Amino acid sequence: MEKKIKIGLIGLGTVGSGVFKTLKHFDNVEVVKIAVRNKNKKRNIDGLDESIITDNAYEVVNDPNIDIVAELVGGIDPAFDLIKTAIRNGKHIVTANKELLAKHGEELFNFAETNNKVVLYEAAIAGGIPLIMPIKTILAGNKINKIKAILNGTTNYILTKMDVQGASYEDVLKEAQELGYAEADPTGDVEGFDAAYKITTLATIAFGKRVKFENVYREGITKISPEDMKAANEMGYKIKLIASAELDDEGRADVRVHPMLVPMSKTLAHINYVTNAVNLSGHPVGDITLSGPGAGEFPTASSVVGDILAIASEIGKTDYVLPMMRCNHTETAVPIEIAETQNKYYISITAQNSLGVIARIGKACEENKISLASIVQKEVAGDNAAKITVITELCKEKDMQKVIDIFNNDSAITKVNSLIRVQI
Ligand code: HSE
Repeated sequence: MEKKIKIGLIGLGTVGSGVFKTLKHFDNVEVVKIAVRNKNKKRNIDGLDESIITDNAYEVVNDPNIDIVAELVGGIDPAFDLIKTAIRNGKHIVTANKELLAKHGEELFNFAETNNKVVLYEAAIAGGIPLIMPIKTILAGNKINKIKAILNGTTNYILTKMDVQGASYEDVLKEAQELGYAEADPTGDVEGFDAAYKITTLATIAFGKRVKFENVYREGITKISPEDMKAANEMGYKIKLIASAELDDEGRADVRVHPMLVPMSKTLAHINYVTNAVNLSGHPVGDITLSGPGAGEFPTASSVVGDILAIASEIGKTDYVLPMMRCNHTETAVPIEIAETQNKYYISITAQNSLGVIARIGKACEENKISLASIVQKEVAGDNAAKITVITELCKEKDMQKVIDIFNNDSAITKVNSLIRVQI
């Protein structure tokens, strides 16, 4: 009988449990050690031999019998040191750690290559959606220059609920927390960090140039209001948290995460609740959209187990496992500052219903080379406040920011309620 490939798991939470349960169906691999935080926690996992559980993760990475370590706990410390120790000890790595990849990917992959080990991370970006392996293998003949994606299920759930129920961000967040969809501290999701980690690595892989996390522009969804949702709907858009990456003709990368008004004609406008989706544009393939579950026990386990089986299938057959899946970057992408980007904008303004307000808004835009695609003022309410909604044509971010400054200093303008970029 062929030797079973020995697997060590770090983490037996939602993802780790799904991985353990899924791996049981494969005869060529065997989970021989699992590190957990709390050994005494009651776990109802069929077929789990409690004697392989340890609360010392170094027992997994130092175990000479283990061939592949799957790190499923996330964060930088101690995950990074555990992974490096495992690599030094001759193990291949599978990880779902998006933060580690985004912040230390270069060091991690260089270290792995020096030690002739592979690090696979399909589960780190969009959970169960196959992205990394397809981009690195069957799409290898493409020049991918554009990604538009929904990479965070929590925020997509909140935005979908706000849209469907006409409810406020605060109310929907509370409900999502009660249902366990959002964490008690939701910052990582709602402020866009999670999506920014994911687009950093996804853009790096797709463009074949390193994108640095610190160059990724980021805005979250906390300021989106039910009024913005309603206005977007009336104009034929949905509001989504979009992770976007574009490579220009000179090889410069514009990578960002922020809310956008997405036209209903686009697929991403129809991706709802916790579903993720990634639209890639490249040559020669054209446009592809992949969508599916971006988190959860079994969808994420699907990606982790796929990576484990890919490595396991080559161990003992070659001295250089999975060459196409290794890091092949030699360059870092030159970033484009958000101020230099061109966008269309939705602006929601509350103003006094006084003579010439609309003309002043138009003049400020004209003086800053911003052309208006539409301007709408609804009938004035009893408080004499005019709600004005503007959509611009494409213009420079820095010109838009100058106009917002002018609005903020105009005594007839009570408030700029929202400024949201619009997808074209
Ligand atoms: N927190 C993530 C999300 C799931 O809400 O999509 C894990 O990456």
